[in-house]
Amino acid sequence: MAANTYLTGIKPTGDFHLGNYIGAIKPALAASGEYDTYYFIADYHALNTVKDADELRHSIRSGAATWLACGLDPERTVLYQQSRVPETFELTTILSALTPKGLMNRAHAYKAARDRNTEAGITDLDAGVNMGLFNYPILMAADILVMESTHVPVGRDQSQHLEYTADIAGYFNHRYGTGYTFPVPKGVIDDSDASILPGVDGRKMSKSYDNHIPLFLPQNKLKKAIRRIPTDSTPVEDPKNPDASVPFQLLTHFADADKVAEVRGRLEAGGMGWGELKNELFEAVEAELAPKRERYEELMAEPERIDEILKAGSERARERACRVLARVRAAIGAA
Ligand code: ADP
Ligand code: TRP
Repeated sequence: MAANTYLTGIKPTGDFHLGNYIGAIKPALAASGEYDTYYFIADYHALNTVKDADELRHSIRSGAATWLACGLDPERTVLYQQSRVPETFELTTILSALTPKGLMNRAHAYKAARDRNTEAGITDLDAGVNMGLFNYPILMAADILVMESTHVPVGRDQSQHLEYTADIAGYFNHRYGTGYTFPVPKGVIDDSDASILPGVDGRKMSKSYDNHIPLFLPQNKLKKAIRRIPTDSTPVEDPKNPDASVPFQLLTHFADADKVAEVRGRLEAGGMGWGELKNELFEAVEAELAPKRERYEELMAEPERIDEILKAGSERARERACRVLARVRAAIGAA
């Protein structure tokens, strides 16, 4: 069996933001020197919400270009597109036959959709729920198991999906383990609050809250977005609590430790205004992202190059998936 395999996917549902960069892309790339790494664009997961073909096409390319611009080396990490590995969907069918419906009934995203209907007084609690949303955890388990992943770095909102994947691998192994056994993958989850980047309103930065700062905003728009982060009216000369300030929390993720300590000291002592703090934040974010943004723009200007990289990565991913599926088919008696 191969060494540890790290695998993660991001849905192409719109442009990436600073939270995705800090919480998902940066840690995943840090692991890529050490392990076998498979990072993919979860386009069929995005299909649940993105129903416009041009938008999906753009988001797939933009997702791949973002990974590459942030430093993913396609020689060392297999970067691929989920839909180009159709064995994933075959495995989804096989796993569906082993998975109790009750497990899906308890999935957070599905339960949240029903709760919203209850609150809105809608009597059909499944109104607006498509089968893609309901089956989502099985598809995600197939993504993970089809590559025999051992480690899955994700945000803590995904921990239930990882528990379900382990359960589903267990159902298979219990029934067919004499023919083939899936490795049971572990989630690699940073549980600390500090790992969650706040959005401009102080809640978790998220596309769904519309409180996000896109990763590759042009320089002037980035500056404006940072200036517009709401702050209170404490006068410049008064002491301030850095830990209650969104721009300061963002700074801790982008500036080095010396700079963060210096700014903390100046805020606590008084004499540093929010405007100056935001300038520091802009400088730190710009220093980290400007070279990546340039590379992103170069890549987006050459979509054929992105497509080629995705195609080549998907072929490599598919070879591995085909080997796994051949063994799974034999184990279940289909071959
Ligand atoms: P969104 O909430 O904007 O829809 P996704 O759910 O698509 O973001 O998240 C993609 C990846 O980025 C996941 O691994 C998730 O944990 C990470 N992520 C998203 N928002 C944040 C955040 N504010 N802080 C840290 N990580 C985040
Ligand atoms: N569900 C994940 C999210 O919303 C995306 C995803 C799909 C994924 N398949 C995966 C993550 C497999 C890790 C492994 O963020």
